[in-house]
Amino acid sequence: MDKEKILQLLRSSKTGFTSGAVLATRLGISRTMVWKHIKELEREGFGIEAMPSRGYRITLVPDTLRQNELGQGLKTKSIGKEIRLFPEVVSTNTLAMEAAVQGAPEGTVIIAETQTGGKGRLGRTWISPRGNLYFSVVLRPQIPTHKAPLITLVGAVAVASAIRTYCSIPATIKWPNDIFISGKKVAGLLTEMSAEPDRIRHIALGIGVDVNMELQELPPDVRMHATTLAHEAGRAIDRKPLLQQILRDLEHWYRIFLTSEGEVLKEWEKLNMTIGCRVTISNAGEVFEGLAQGIDHEGRLLVTLDDHTTRIVAAGDVTIVKR
Ligand code: BTN
Repeated sequence: MDKEKILQLLRSSKTGFTSGAVLATRLGISRTMVWKHIKELEREGFGIEAMPSRGYRITLVPDTLRQNELGQGLKTKSIGKEIRLFPEVVSTNTLAMEAAVQGAPEGTVIIAETQTGGKGRLGRTWISPRGNLYFSVVLRPQIPTHKAPLITLVGAVAVASAIRTYCSIPATIKWPNDIFISGKKVAGLLTEMSAEPDRIRHIALGIGVDVNMELQELPPDVRMHATTLAHEAGRAIDRKPLLQQILRDLEHWYRIFLTSEGEVLKEWEKLNMTIGCRVTISNAGEVFEGLAQGIDHEGRLLVTLDDHTTRIVAAGDVTIVKR
């Protein structure tokens, strides 16, 4: 697309300005067409300075994701090979499940700037204002159905690692798949699956990361327990490279998982903040307290109660009582 090429040329200009004549020649279009594309870019939020003798120069880049840029320099084999960006959806997970039914290849990423019906764990809503990352990855692992919950752990390892690498912030994992920084939640993962009794058809691994939104955009009860990467880093975070780092780490850990899932569990244990803590578990109206001892080979939490019996917890909310 000519507009995207103009943007690319302006962004890569070493001298700052690029003349309308150069842009027109490089693209094989008229200078009037160049001007029209510049106006369109301004409408999309770019600040573009025009100087009659020198040409055009970018002065402001809006914080919007651009479809054709998301894959640039990603260098993954399958995760993110195909990326579909939407300005607004109900839920990227729902869209990813639909895309999978229609044959989307493994690794397809569905991403949106905002969601009107974002889904959280245990039937909750995931409030999705602009400025964050909301995306779902189509996966088709050849593993037994009962191992599907491990995919969320793979995702959690990837997200925590990517935040550590790209933002230099020590993100940790709270069982099963909440990403925490300084005791507050910054990201969550939700896996949905279509399966037969002995075979997974496809999975949508949904990831929501609170990146640049204002915390005021969340209702007070959610805000109390939440943070954003921008808040923790003290600066706005560029979402494209962060997304790409997550996708690279996801590919890395997903490949390891397919051959040796124990490696992923070990990494999850290294990054987690739950094991060794006294915890309260609440699930479906039942609440109990105990010591989180570890996770089993299916990623379930092992909790030893005060009467020395051990409970194997497959789902629920964990509150850390004491470290
Ligand atoms: C949780 O911690 O409760 C899980 C939150 C998962 C949110 C993400 S945002 C992208 C994807 N689409 C959804 O509707 N949910 C997941």
